Amino acid sequence: MAHINDHYLKLKAGYLFPEIARRVREFSTANPAAKIIRLGIGDVTRPLPAACITAGKAAFDELGEGKSFRGYGPEQGYDFLREAIAEHDFKSRGVAIDASEIVVSDGSKCDTGNIQEIFGADCLIAVPDPVYPVYVDTNVMAGRTGQADVSGRYAGLVYLNSTAESGFLPAFPKRRVDLVYLCFPNNPTGCVASRAVLTSWVEWATRNGAIILFDAAYEAFISDPTIPHSIFEIPGARECAIEFRSYSKTAGFTGTRCAYTVVPKTLRGFDAVGSPVDILPLWLRRQTTKFNGVSYPIQRAAEACYSEAGKTQIKDLVQYYMGNAKIIRDGLAKMGIEIHGGVNAPYIWLKTPGNLSSWEFFDHLLTKANVVGTPGAGFGACGEGYFRLSAFGETDQVREAVERISKLGL
Ligand code: MLT
Repeated sequence: MAHINDHYLKLKAGYLFPEIARRVREFSTANPAAKIIRLGIGDVTRPLPAACITAGKAAFDELGEGKSFRGYGPEQGYDFLREAIAEHDFKSRGVAIDASEIVVSDGSKCDTGNIQEIFGADCLIAVPDPVYPVYVDTNVMAGRTGQADVSGRYAGLVYLNSTAESGFLPAFPKRRVDLVYLCFPNNPTGCVASRAVLTSWVEWATRNGAIILFDAAYEAFISDPTIPHSIFEIPGARECAIEFRSYSKTAGFTGTRCAYTVVPKTLRGFDAVGSPVDILPLWLRRQTTKFNGVSYPIQRAAEACYSEAGKTQIKDLVQYYMGNAKIIRDGLAKMGIEIHGGVNAPYIWLKTPGNLSSWEFFDHLLTKANVVGTPGAGFGACGEGYFRLSAFGETDQVREAVERISKLGL
């Protein structure tokens, strides 16, 4: 008899987004005439940048010729992409990250989910609340938690409340923890961390010997020039942080998949007897064992994001989505709804009107306006009473959604 991993049985029924999709499917089966507008999952709707398409097609052509054919690539990514990343995402902002500290992957969801494997089962983990559910669920699967309580919080995890009072910035842990997940610009609240806030986190991690797992998947949406794009812009972060970046939202790669993780050579953990151990070789060991790399054409397409044409096209994409964010913000503000985010991030976090619970509001919007959003409670107990709208839709659909919501007379 094969004994399953019992920790999976602790997980709440479904991962948030498939659960939303299930409810929407059920509604549209019962109401086939309903024209549903989806502003739930943060999935992009605009085509890939032309520069990426050209580069990807050329790479496929290379694979069609005997003399330029390639099989397996390096598991950690081709040098051409790692070097372009080091140059354009870091050096250009005055941040010293070497290409050898960059590990290319097929997504930040995978990387933020897998990174916990290289740390001890006894590590104490802190997560903001609300939070991207992947950070929590993967630690549950790994057995670092007990059961969830009625609010969905797992025993053994340290939750850092992020509330309106704190501008949705997570509170610092009140007890010792080993690893803390941070995400800025934040999914789901759309809030950002100033240089001062990030500096306090780096100082806290340095003082406490903790490691920050910094998810920067939405950095391209920062418009305020004072907000850091990378934790490595903060002195001392090379000794206490890992950063995750993605082409998914920036360049429309949610379907094509490409991302990367930065593990500085100066980052160390400790073995059982307290001797320091470099983290980068552990992550490389994990990736080279379990992952065979992103396909060559997709890495060439990602590299094209850094060409002059690619940079312009990406800027246009970001502006398009942030134009949507403004439509949502302005529309909701006119309705008197309390809104957060949507300025340096593609998510708008709103207080549900009339004290509806997050899921009640979800049902109300779905059934009365045929608009899909994401219930804040799905991101954690502190998300209850909030709701997330994504700016990644098409503009005419976003306008229509706002108009429909305004007609509800909330
Ligand atoms: C979201 O909607 O939160 C994101 O699309 C999830 C993800 O990037 O996996």
